Amino acid sequence: IRSATTSLTRGNFAKISSSDLSFFERTVGSSYVKTKDIDNYTCDWTKQMKGSSKCVLIPSSTEETSTILKYCAEKRIAVVVQAGNTGLVGGATPLFDEIILSTSRINNNFHLEESSGVLTLDAGIILADADYLLAEKGFMMPLDLGAKGSCQIGGCIAAGAGGIRLLRYGSLHSHLLGCTLVDGKGTIIKLGGSLRKDNTSLHTAHLTIGSEGQLGVITSVTMGVVPRPISILCAMLAVSSYSHCLRLLSLARSKLGEILSSFELIDGETMKCVERHLPIKNIFNEPHDFYLLIETHGSNGDHDGEKLNEFVEEALGAELAEDGVAAHSENERTHMWRLREESPIAAAKDGYIYKFDVSLPLEHFYRLTEETRKKLGTRARVYCYGHLGDGNSHLNVTTDGEDEELKKELSPFVYNWVVSHGGSISAEHGIGQLKRDYRSLGKSEEEISLIRSLKGVFDPHRILCPYKMIPSQE
Ligand code: MLT
Ligand code: ZN
Repeated sequence: IRSATTSLTRGNFAKISSSDLSFFERTVGSSYVKTKDIDNYTCDWTKQMKGSSKCVLIPSSTEETSTILKYCAEKRIAVVVQAGNTGLVGGATPLFDEIILSTSRINNNFHLEESSGVLTLDAGIILADADYLLAEKGFMMPLDLGAKGSCQIGGCIAAGAGGIRLLRYGSLHSHLLGCTLVDGKGTIIKLGGSLRKDNTSLHTAHLTIGSEGQLGVITSVTMGVVPRPISILCAMLAVSSYSHCLRLLSLARSKLGEILSSFELIDGETMKCVERHLPIKNIFNEPHDFYLLIETHGSNGDHDGEKLNEFVEEALGAELAEDGVAAHSENERTHMWRLREESPIAAAKDGYIYKFDVSLPLEHFYRLTEETRKKLGTRARVYCYGHLGDGNSHLNVTTDGEDEELKKELSPFVYNWVVSHGGSISAEHGIGQLKRDYRSLGKSEEEISLIRSLKGVFDPHRILCPYKMIPSQE
C-alpha cells in the first residue's frame, strides 16, 4: 500500500554518528537503543510500508523523551514517533534514516478518579489493557477499534482514532481533557488539565488529536471514560439496497435512541471475500447485498432487548430488511463482530490492496463504491465496509498483483470524487505518507498556512515526522 508519492528527497538533517549513539545510550540505557533487528519498527504491521532507520530509541519517561528531543533539535536529527505501529497510512514508518522514537515503555502510570470518571494514563499503555483495568472499576474506554490489542492510547490520540463506538460516545474531542506533550525542542508542556469543563483559554490539548507526531510526543493522557454498560446486545440485518440501509439507520436512531452504539455496514462483496479467505461463515444462509451490524449499550438488558426486538421486527415488517438475527449469546455476538472486524484482514488476503478511509455525506456514502466498480470493471475487485452511522466508508480495492497504471489512476479518482461530493479524504486513519500528495485537497490556503505556522511554534527545526502530514514551509 505504499503511496504513489511524488519523488522525495532527504531533508537537510544530520546523519547519526557514534557519539550520538553514545549520548542516547547514556540517556535511555544501552538495551533501549536498538540498531539491529529493527524491521518490526522500520516496517508497518502490514509489511507493505518499508522504511529505514539507523536506530530505535525506547525511552521510559517524559524526561528521557525530552532529553532526546532537545539533543535532536540541537543537532538537527530527524525523528519519527511510533506508538503501537498499527496505523494504516505509514505515519509511523521512517522514510530515509529518521530515528524512531518508540513510546512503548512509557506505560507505568494509570490513575482513575472514580467520582468524576477522569483517567490519567501513560501514553504507551495499550488500549485493551487500559480497558481491562477500567472494567474492574465498572468503567470503559469510550473508544474501541480492531487494533485494540496493540495500539497505544497516545497513538490513538495522535492518529485521531475513531472506531466502532464513536456513534454512541463521540470522537476523542469529547473525551480528551489534557495531555503532556514533549515538543520538537524537547520542552515538556502540560496542555489542558483534568477538569471536565475549563473554558479559560484555547483548548490546546485538542491540537494533538490527529497530529500524527507533527507537534511533539504525547507521553501522558487525561481523558473522560464512560460507565461500563450492563447490557450489550447485538443484531445483524440483511438488506437489499443502500437506500434501505439509510432508512434503517433513521429507524435505529428513533427506536433505539440513546442505547444505539454501533451501526456498521458490510457490503455483499466484502462478505463473500470474508468467507473466501477466512474460516468464518456468514450468519445468514443466503447471500445478500448489504449487512448491517447494530450494537446497543445500556443499563437494563430486558428493556434494551425489548427495544432491539421491536426495531428488528419493524425493520422486517416494513420490508426494509430481508432477514434479521439477534445474538443470543456472547459467542454469537463475537461471531457477528468478527465478520465486521476481520473484513480488512480478508480484503488484505484478497490480493494487492489499495485502501481508502473516507468520510462522505450519507447520500453519497455507497455511490463511491458503485462509481469505483463502474470505473474499474473487471480490472479490480471493490469492497466496502465501514462505520455507516458516522458516514465513514472503508473502500478497499484489490488486484491480483501490483498494478502501476491502476495505482496512478485510483487515488486521484477517489479523492477528487470524495472532495467534490463534500467528503474528507481521511476519516480516521490520517494522512501519513500514503495520502501526503493529497493532503491539501479540500483545505484553504489560509488554513494550510495556519497549520504550517503552528508546526513552526511546536517544532521550529521541523525534525518531527518529516515528509508527511504538514507541508514544509517552502
Ligand atoms: C476498520 O474499521 O475496520 C478499520 O478502520 C480498519 C480498516 O478499515 O482497514
Ligand atoms: Zn474503521
